[in-house]
Amino acid sequence: MQFEEQLFKEAADSWDLENLYRGVAQTKQFNKTKEAKLTSVEKAILRGLLCGYSPKKIATELHWTYGSLNVELTKGLYRYIETLTDHDVNTIRNWRNIAQWLEEAGYKITHPKSDWQETPYISSFYGREEELEQLEQWIVRDQYRLVTLLGMGGIGKTTLAVKLTKQIQKEFDYVIWRNIEYLPLLSDLLTDLLKVFPSNQNDNGSAPVDRKISQLIEYLRSYRCLLILDSLESVMDGDNLSGFFRQEYSNYSQLIKRITEESHQSCLVMISQDEPADSLLIQGNKIGSLQIGGLGIAAKEILAEEGLSYPNCWRILIEKYQGNPLALKLVCANIKEVFGGNVAKFLEADTELGIIVPNFFRELLKEQFRRLSDPEKQIIYSLAVCRHPLNIENLQKYIKPKIYLSDLTQALYSLRKRSLIERASELDQSVFTLPLMVKKYVIRNCQQQSDRSSS
Ligand SMILES: Nc1ncnc2c1ncn2[C@@H]1O[C@H](COP(=O)(O)OP(=O)(O)O)[C@@H](O)[C@H]1O
Ligand SMILES: [Mg+2]
Repeated sequence: MQFEEQLFKEAADSWDLENLYRGVAQTKQFNKTKEAKLTSVEKAILRGLLCGYSPKKIATELHWTYGSLNVELTKGLYRYIETLTDHDVNTIRNWRNIAQWLEEAGYKITHPKSDWQETPYISSFYGREEELEQLEQWIVRDQYRLVTLLGMGGIGKTTLAVKLTKQIQKEFDYVIWRNIEYLPLLSDLLTDLLKVFPSNQNDNGSAPVDRKISQLIEYLRSYRCLLILDSLESVMDGDNLSGFFRQEYSNYSQLIKRITEESHQSCLVMISQDEPADSLLIQGNKIGSLQIGGLGIAAKEILAEEGLSYPNCWRILIEKYQGNPLALKLVCANIKEVFGGNVAKFLEADTELGIIVPNFFRELLKEQFRRLSDPEKQIIYSLAVCRHPLNIENLQKYIKPKIYLSDLTQALYSLRKRSLIERASELDQSVFTLPLMVKKYVIRNCQQQSDRSSS
């Protein structure tokens, strides 16, 4: 195999290359310059451009001079692609036009049809190689129908699932992510899920839940879908025995049971702090459950990213917070503010903060909250009571008394640095939410405050 065939192979993730090579080759014949086949070098150059690499970078990878690559482009590929995409000759102004025009011409893969509207944005990702390997084994190779990710708040379940989903999405016709944190009744959730599928034109909002589940399973049978339900513990009973769905959500167990028992080619991934109890985790084939533990030594990368000093003390810090990345990020903010990033000093002083879960979160958050500015507090309270993520304009409307946009932006930035809010993207804009642990803390705390003031 020639070495250029190995270059820019990742283009195949997003482009229908075979079809594209064929199309370009035909225009080449049309131009009657050379034989009607693309050389492996032409293919490599094309892939490079589609991956967003500049001609200069591509020349380096091919061990060519920039000049000779430019000659090749202007005589060849640029002209073929103008013809292929119905543009006039010599109208390519910039190498970026290539990807843009070919996308418009439909050569980009729009598959799988993803509905990621509630997927959080992840900026960095460390460790978890074994977990990723295990999950990929279950979902892709063994075609499990139900996989549950379990673990305490902040441990990194959502982050792991986002990473996994990106890694395996190619294997699916549909990828759908929903966050149950907003407490949808099952009937509403199903209506919403069914809308994702194109042939489902009729409004079935009023159909009984059973029927909607049947319809969903039909789609799960016709298409290979990856359906992720995050924060499932939100609809479980927190006060009594853990793992049971709250009364108005009890039919969630029906959905899970049927997805596990009926035949189809899809996978449901449930993410939860509590393991769904009772009979619904029907023992059987093609069901897996993975307990997510601390991040371990990979958490050092987070501390490095946060710019802490005294790396020889990091292991102790990580152990103290059980490798919980959210706890570590929160404590990093404290260490930076109070101890100038000096972990050794922090550990010396830190005799109070217990490591007992979830007490350590409570203490940590109490400490964090004490230090917040008023606009930061206002944002936190608004996001805690609001059921949906808010974009900056809506957040501004929500906050009383009114707060200037510049103060709001600054406070949002600061809260992100403190890991107290999360940013997701929804329809190309940023929206903000609270990590669930923070939300719970705020809601409980505000409740206690108002109880106290009313008594
Ligand atoms: N593997 C990881 N690498 C880097 N950061 C991580 C990792 N896992 C989690 N985090 C960070 O820790 C925080 C909590 O993670 P999250 O996935 O929301 O936890 P959970 O869903 O279990 O409550 C987030 O800020 C996230 O960015
Ligand atoms: Mg989560």
